[in-house]
Amino acid sequence: MNLLIDNIGELVTNEPRMGKGPLGIVQRAAILVEDGTVAWVGRSAYAQPADRRLDAEGAAVLPGFVDSHAHLVFAGDRAAEFAARMAGERYNGGGIRTTVAATRAASDDDLRDTAGRLCREALRQGTTTIEIKSGYGLSVTDEERSLRIGREFTDETTFLGAHVVPAEYADRVDDYVGLVCGPMLRAAAPYARWIDVFCEQGAFDADHSRAILTVGQAAGLGVRVHANQLGAGPGVRLAVELGAASADHCTHLSASDVDALASSSTVATLLPGAEFSTRSPYPDARRLLDARVTVALATDCNPGSSYTSSMPFCIALAVREMGMTPAEAVWSATAGGAKALRRTDIGVLRPGARADLTVLDAPSHLHLAYRPGVPLIRHVMHNGVLLE
Ligand code: NIG
Ligand code: FE
Repeated sequence: MNLLIDNIGELVTNEPRMGKGPLGIVQRAAILVEDGTVAWVGRSAYAQPADRRLDAEGAAVLPGFVDSHAHLVFAGDRAAEFAARMAGERYNGGGIRTTVAATRAASDDDLRDTAGRLCREALRQGTTTIEIKSGYGLSVTDEERSLRIGREFTDETTFLGAHVVPAEYADRVDDYVGLVCGPMLRAAAPYARWIDVFCEQGAFDADHSRAILTVGQAAGLGVRVHANQLGAGPGVRLAVELGAASADHCTHLSASDVDALASSSTVATLLPGAEFSTRSPYPDARRLLDARVTVALATDCNPGSSYTSSMPFCIALAVREMGMTPAEAVWSATAGGAKALRRTDIGVLRPGARADLTVLDAPSHLHLAYRPGVPLIRHVMHNGVLLE
C-alpha cells in the first residue's frame, strides 16, 4: 500500500537540490510514501496514481519537527515556582531537587503516564522525533528506570545523571561524580544513546563535566552538554573539545565560544521556551547564524524551566525574539534538530527519508511564526502512518 499526498501548495524538503532556497521548497508538489519512507517527491502534475490519496488542498507540508532536547521523565509540576518567577524571583536551577524528590516517590506507571502524555501532546503539534533525558532520578536505580521508561517512547535517550548534585551528596561532590562515572553509568548505558552534563555554576564544573562525559564516551555514548545557560562558562568550549553533537542553551556566549562552535561540527541548540519561562534574555541566534554555526531549536520541555512541548511556539519565539527568519527557524526545528541528533534519515523529505511530516492548516511555513499560538498542524504522519 502506498499513499500519495498531492495538491501541496508548498513542500519544504530541506533539500536545496530539490527546490528553492535553503528549505528546498517545491511548489504545487506531491509526495509518495511507501513502507514508512518517502518514495518520490515532485510536482503534483507528474505524480503517478497510488493506492491511497490525501488531498492537501493547497496547504504547506513540512518534515516533522525534531525536538532534540526534552526532559519528560518526571513527576509533579512546579507551577508555583513559575508564578514566583513571574512575580520577580530568579531561576537558578534550585527547583530541580523538588522534581527529583517527586520523581523518586513516583511509581513506574506514574512516570510512564506523564512521559506518554507529553509525547502525544508533542506529536499532535507535529513533533515526530523527540529526545528524552533522565536527570530527575539521580540515584543508580532512579536513573536506570528513568531511561528504561524513556526508551519506551524514543530511541533518542540521554543519560543526565549529572543534572545537579542530589541533596544527600551535597558535601561530597567528588563521591557523586564517582557514582555517576561508575555504577550509575553502567546501569544507565544499556538504555541510553547519549550522555549529557549540566555544566554550569551551581551544577558541575569543567573538570567534573569532562570526567563524566569522557567515561560516557568510552562506554559508547554520544556527547551533548547543557552549556552557558545561566551565565558565561566553560560548557560550550568543553562541548567542542569533546566533539559533542550539540551544545544546548548557548545563552551567554563569548566571542571565542562562537568561534569554537563555528569551527566545529557541534550544533548550537537554542531553547527559547526556557528564556520565556524564566523571563531571561534570549540567546542571540542571529550572531550564531552570521558566524555560520549550525543552529537547532528544541523545547527543553521540563516542569521547571520550560513546560512546553510545542515546537511551533519555539519557532515563533525564535523569529520574534532571537533574530531568526521564519525559514531559518523552520530549518532549525527540523533539519537542525536532526543534525543535533546526528541523524540523516529525519528532518528532510527526500526519497529514502523517513515519512515523518506535517500538513499545516496554512499555505506556507511562514504562518508558523506569523500566526503564533494558533493550532496549525492539520495532519501528522509518523513512519508513514497518518495519525487519527
Ligand atoms: O535544561 N538547566 C538544567 N536543566 C533544565 C531545567 C530543569 C529544571 O529546572 O527542572 C533545563 O533548563
Ligand atoms: Fe534541558
